[in-house]
Amino acid sequence: MSRFSEPQDPLFQALNSSIEFDFRLWPYDVAQSRAHATMLAQAGIIGGDDRDAILSGLDQVEEEIEGDRFEIRQDDEDVHMAIERRLTEITDAGAKLHTARSRNDQVATDVAMLVRAHALDARGLLVDLMGTLVDLAERHLDWPMPGYTHLQRAQPVYLSHHLLAYFWKFRRDLQRFHFCMTATDDLPLGAGALAGTNFATERMFVAQELGFGGIAENSLDAVSNRDFILDYLSAAATCATHLSQLGAEIVIWSSEEFGFCEVADRFASGSSLMPQKKNPDAAELLRAKAPRVVGRLTTLHGVLHGLPLTYNKDLQEDKEQLFDAIDTVELCLRVAREMLATISYDRERLAAAATDQLLAATDVADLLVKKGVPFRKAHGIVGGVVRTAVEQGKSLSELTREELAEIAPELDGDYYALLEDGAWLESKVSEGGTSLARVRDQLAQARHILAETD
Ligand code: ARG
Repeated sequence: MSRFSEPQDPLFQALNSSIEFDFRLWPYDVAQSRAHATMLAQAGIIGGDDRDAILSGLDQVEEEIEGDRFEIRQDDEDVHMAIERRLTEITDAGAKLHTARSRNDQVATDVAMLVRAHALDARGLLVDLMGTLVDLAERHLDWPMPGYTHLQRAQPVYLSHHLLAYFWKFRRDLQRFHFCMTATDDLPLGAGALAGTNFATERMFVAQELGFGGIAENSLDAVSNRDFILDYLSAAATCATHLSQLGAEIVIWSSEEFGFCEVADRFASGSSLMPQKKNPDAAELLRAKAPRVVGRLTTLHGVLHGLPLTYNKDLQEDKEQLFDAIDTVELCLRVAREMLATISYDRERLAAAATDQLLAATDVADLLVKKGVPFRKAHGIVGGVVRTAVEQGKSLSELTREELAEIAPELDGDYYALLEDGAWLESKVSEGGTSLARVRDQLAQARHILAETD
């Protein structure tokens, strides 16, 4: 009895088979087989006629898959076996394709190629989103709004400054996805099952054919390495978390209580019961998707944890984690971009919330500092000023000179000048601050980065 030709137990097959989810590796599998066959002939391991038969057989396989005519058989365990099985039906030379190759180095190569392609896609989508944020910031350059800490009004900022904060978060995501290109740069193929192969293959040739910068130096590492998936998932998880923060904020801002923004109808739903409602569903889903992507990352860490060298079937569990994260984060990036391109902000509501004079408390303290009062002491004095105003139901500027003199004799006419409209926004002149001149610098810098990327 051969251990390899027995029909598989259906229950085991249900567990063992990966074809239902790994078929999407096919373009990379076909591409690597082309490069591999070409190399085998070049190195004199197979004949030129076999290579030609394999290459035209692969063309046919590709046509069948693209034309939706490729038939998956019951015992095709995974995409690699399905393609090789069909190729061998088309040409006897197909049986030579697996020379000097194992599914272990084959699958690692396919997945590395797929990660690289999707890291590039994510970068493109991020650049689009960042461009939309820059446009949006430019259109809302001098719109005052309250900046928050603890979701309590803290100090006013310009909406442009607030929007650009997300630009920098996504910029770091861009850098993280860029790192995935480095992480996928060493070709696993040629490592064989684990120890190398008995043939003098030319791995660098295959690497160049497939767009890898080099070859994995250690065959044991090559077939067991899934770091590049962790790197992608990690970048995706952080990016999804940023998108969830953006989404959550849009949800809050869309509420009647805030009334700061309104998403386009195409990204909202109405209530089946309450006609007045407009629900920001898309923003809510951006908020909700992040833990799912983070879960994919932690799951793969769990799969890899404690695995002995080298290939273990556990590694087959990498793909669904990866594919789901790719689909989720790419969709969310598309939606976020479109949602921002069509969102509208309410200038009056934002401004009304920003004119609360209590937001100037820190600025009053700084005024005292400029008059020589140590900051900690100034902080206490202004605390008293705020308390008095709140107790009397007055705004800060409604306090009389007499009242002021009693609590804070150091304060004079400058106090009233400071409280005039907008004065305390434009005073944030430090680098990275919200004054218009600084936001303009920031916009220029953001535009420069976008022009440099791609
Ligand atoms: N479907 C397998 C995977 O995704 C391919 C590698 C199988 N290798 C093996 N020795 N059984 O990991």
